[in-house]
Amino acid sequence: MSHVTITPLASASGRVAVPGDKSASHRALILAALADGESRLTGLSRGEDVRGTARLVSQLGAVVTEDATWVVRGPSGGLRPSGNPLDCGNSGTTMRLLSGVVAGVPGRHTLVGDASLMRRPMDRVARPLREMGADITGQGERETAPLRVVGRRPLHSIDFRVPVPSAQVKSAVLLAGLVAEGSTVIRESVRTRTTTEDMLALAGVSVRSVDDGAGRVVTVRPGRPQPVDWSVPGDPSQAAFFVVLGAIHPRGAITIDSIDAGPERTGFLDVLERMGASIVRRPSASGVGIELESHAAALRGTEIRSDEIPSVDEVPALAVAAAAAEGVSAFRDMAELRVKESDRFAGAMDLAARLGCRVWADGDDFFIEGRGGASRFERFEITAELDHRMVMSAAIAGAAGAGCAIAGAETVASSYPDFFDDLASLR
Ligand code: S3P
Repeated sequence: MSHVTITPLASASGRVAVPGDKSASHRALILAALADGESRLTGLSRGEDVRGTARLVSQLGAVVTEDATWVVRGPSGGLRPSGNPLDCGNSGTTMRLLSGVVAGVPGRHTLVGDASLMRRPMDRVARPLREMGADITGQGERETAPLRVVGRRPLHSIDFRVPVPSAQVKSAVLLAGLVAEGSTVIRESVRTRTTTEDMLALAGVSVRSVDDGAGRVVTVRPGRPQPVDWSVPGDPSQAAFFVVLGAIHPRGAITIDSIDAGPERTGFLDVLERMGASIVRRPSASGVGIELESHAAALRGTEIRSDEIPSVDEVPALAVAAAAAEGVSAFRDMAELRVKESDRFAGAMDLAARLGCRVWADGDDFFIEGRGGASRFERFEITAELDHRMVMSAAIAGAAGAGCAIAGAETVASSYPDFFDDLASLR
């Protein structure tokens, strides 16, 4: 386990180019592998999660060449089972999306992951895929990995309401729907990121999305994606760490270039603005996504509902903002945080407590009473528990406050291998 010591930054100003959007990177690799022909992928995340997906699609028969631009050739006859387990590492997106893919690849597949991923619930994908005709079994009630899948084709089409807000579950069913015998319908009551629908449409698949007032209904028709040259924008969830750092550091002025600005991904910006953050959003000079600028500001506590930030990925960073704010922030309906790479419900509270805040929970809500400025943060130590986002949240808190020591910091490489270099560049 590696230990990283973060010393306080005298100033936090400069420009950061965050990695390519992780969600779009996984999907670009998967859709390219499903297509018959060659796709070229630029701007992909170089994190281990995305590299893992690249390795797995090649295990399933695609040819992947890594360079500045990645080239992926999907096999004409379609993907085929690998004789070896599919190791998804730390990546829930890889495991859940690939379950949907291999459900429609005739033959036997086994999906495994690291200690964190092996604890995460897979029943949320196993249930709909079983309904579609795949034979799929996990361990225990929550159907944790190893996940054994016997794929078949065609699958049955289903009309499915996603039980928890989850783009991963929606995507697994959409991908399985590509080899169903008719149209597959997915209903979500909380609108989650639309990366899969958008990219499927660009790859020539018939997919329709209708707002039904209470949420969204997505319908996909069977079809094979066409090869597409994908250009992946920067990852807003990684930008969040630097936006928060720019806001809470007394000498913060950070610009982040070219990030995806989908409405389901930028809710954290609205929350921060409500807290008093000074954020400029403008079209990116590169023409891809938007550019953000975040400046030092006095923050005040607010109420944050999970449906404002549907994947709750940015909550650990927002907990650091809440810890620096004046007054109490209420994080409402945050149950999903408990089943991420680590229990982030406990982790976010623990981090704020180590910074010197009063914290408390009530059911699925938790509360942080801020210290009224990052200069009042205490120095702290933390263990990362195989959770990249907890490492980055701790690091920005230490950088803006009194420093920190992080054990297990190497897990940051799953999504952002250059994170510590980028953080140090703001000195
Ligand atoms: C993701 C969806 C979200 C998010 C994850 C990436 C995706 O998970 O937390 O980091 O790419 O579909 P859920 O679907 O569990 O909300």
